[in-house]
Amino acid sequence: MEKRDELYRGKAKTVYFTDDSDKLILHFRNDTSAFDGEKIEQLDRKGEVNNKFNHFIMTKLEEAGVATQVESLISDTESLVKKLDMIPVECVVRNLAAGSLVRRLGVEEGQELSPPVFEFFLKNDALHDPMINDYHIASFGWASEAQIAKMKSITFEVNNVLKALFAEGGMLLVDYKLEFGVDSDGNIVLGDEFTPDGCRLWDKETRKKMDKDRFRQGLGSVVETYIEVAERIGLSL
Ligand code: TMP
Ligand code: ASP
Repeated sequence: MEKRDELYRGKAKTVYFTDDSDKLILHFRNDTSAFDGEKIEQLDRKGEVNNKFNHFIMTKLEEAGVATQVESLISDTESLVKKLDMIPVECVVRNLAAGSLVRRLGVEEGQELSPPVFEFFLKNDALHDPMINDYHIASFGWASEAQIAKMKSITFEVNNVLKALFAEGGMLLVDYKLEFGVDSDGNIVLGDEFTPDGCRLWDKETRKKMDKDRFRQGLGSVVETYIEVAERIGLSL
């Protein structure tokens, strides 16, 4: 597999073309961003940790029957993935209240959400990822109604698989964000990444934050804590 030109440089990953027109390479950099790119720092080993973490989680999801973009790990910081036509929306499921939900609705952090809450956000840093609903997505043609339904159902399916996985490691999956794309056969496929950069994880007993809130809130030991999360779910880094 040969790496070709850069297709896209995001805040934490760079995407490259390859000599196979159906495959891309995701390069996980050490860059760590918060507040829509307002705070950016390089954290030693983060690219490697997130690359391997993402591969581990995506493999677990594939085993549970979720179609994902991931093909294989090709280096410490790179993965080979299927090329998708990405849908510019973020799908968020919340099991416990935290983050923007707490700020928006004035509810107490840590309150259990039953049933879990589903939210869509538009992927647009300049607009600070505004919250949108199904009608915006259909009306502006970002996805069809069938694709919207599929994104929701897969996002909830992921919740069942990952809540159980993190619970085995003594953690609560507070919330997470997924992104989807369409493959060459027209199927909705899980893309982007699942790492502690895009979810919230708390220790079940102490409620210690074990995700990117450590970076957002300046709590320290960011990568060390990601490695602890990995180890608790059976991935040694
Ligand atoms: P929020 O509380 O900031 O809305 O975020 C909810 C979850 O989604 C949290 O785990 C972080 C994740 N998320 C991202 O990773 N990137 C984003 O751009 C957004 C809006 C949320
Ligand atoms: N992922 C977004 C950013 O890097 C939002 C966040 O995680 O705070 O700026």
